[in-house]
Formats: sequence, structure tokens, C-alpha cells
Amino acid sequence: MRILMVCLGNICRSPMADGHLRKKVKDLNLDVVVDSAGTTNFHNGVAPDKRMIATGVKFGTPIDELRARQFKVADFDNFDLIYCMDSSNLTNVLSLARNDADRQKVLLILNELEPNSNTAVPDPYYGSMNDFEAVYQLLDRATDCIIEKIKNGKIR
Ligand code: 4NP
Repeated sequence: MRILMVCLGNICRSPMADGHLRKKVKDLNLDVVVDSAGTTNFHNGVAPDKRMIATGVKFGTPIDELRARQFKVADFDNFDLIYCMDSSNLTNVLSLARNDADRQKVLLILNELEPNSNTAVPDPYYGSMNDFEAVYQLLDRATDCIIEKIKNGKIR
């Protein structure tokens, strides 16, 4: 199983989702590869936002070694599931899909927490540290749901 997390810049939400899931699959010794990407190339090659790194350190999930990259069409071949943080990311990723098989891999991450809710992980970039903490907690819960599904063989 290979899972890709996607947001706009790949410096706040998707690296945190990536960090959470990476840590959980490692702790549980699950055979899952995790990565993340942004729909833009704005932050290519850089570490996550300092505020997201600090929040990760504060609550126990470090992400400082991750580096931003842009989503590419080959990611449809390299990953089984592509979790987007909001509907704009979803639209942008779907616009690059080549066929139905590609499209079926693309999901909104919070639909794992609240099925069919189609809610967004709020973009914390212009927000406060509380917004970063909220993103951390939301993605901790969403990745717990993903882990449960993987363990129960229910991830499609
Ligand atoms: P992310 O947050 O998509 O969660 O990484 C953002 C990062 C950068 C920008 C916007 C959102 N930006 O406008 O540069």
C-alpha cells in the first residue's frame, strides 16, 4: 500500500498528515509507504513551515526532515491512494488524472473521519498557532481512521 498526502504548498497540512501516518505505520510495522506533495511548486525543496514543525515537536510527531515537492502525473502510478486536504486540492489533482483508475485514487482526507462530509482541513498558513494545533489534531484523528482501515483490510 502506498499513500500520498496532498495540499497546496506541501509545507503545512500535507507534511503533517504525512508525518502522522509515517510514524503510525512505522510504530505498527505496517507495510505502507507514505509521502506528500503540493499542487503548486511554490515551496519546492524546502522544509515544512516552522510553525508546523514546532507544533509537531510540541505534540510528538516531528516532520523537520520532509521536503516539499510538487504533485506530478506519475504519482497516479506510484500511489494507491491520494488524500487531498481540501476540495481545491482535489480539483487540481483530478484535473491531471488520465482515466477513471487515476480518478478513483483521489479522496478527501476528512471523509475518512466523517464519511461524505466533504469538509476541508483548514489552511493554517495565514492563521495563528492555534490553527496549526487544530490541523495537527484533526490530522492525528484522520490518520487514526486510515490506520484502522488498513488494519481491518478496509482501505479500498
Ligand atoms: P499548505 O499551506 O497548503 O497546507 O502547505 C500553504 C502553504 C503555502 C501557501 C498557502 C498555503 N502559500 O500561499 O504560499
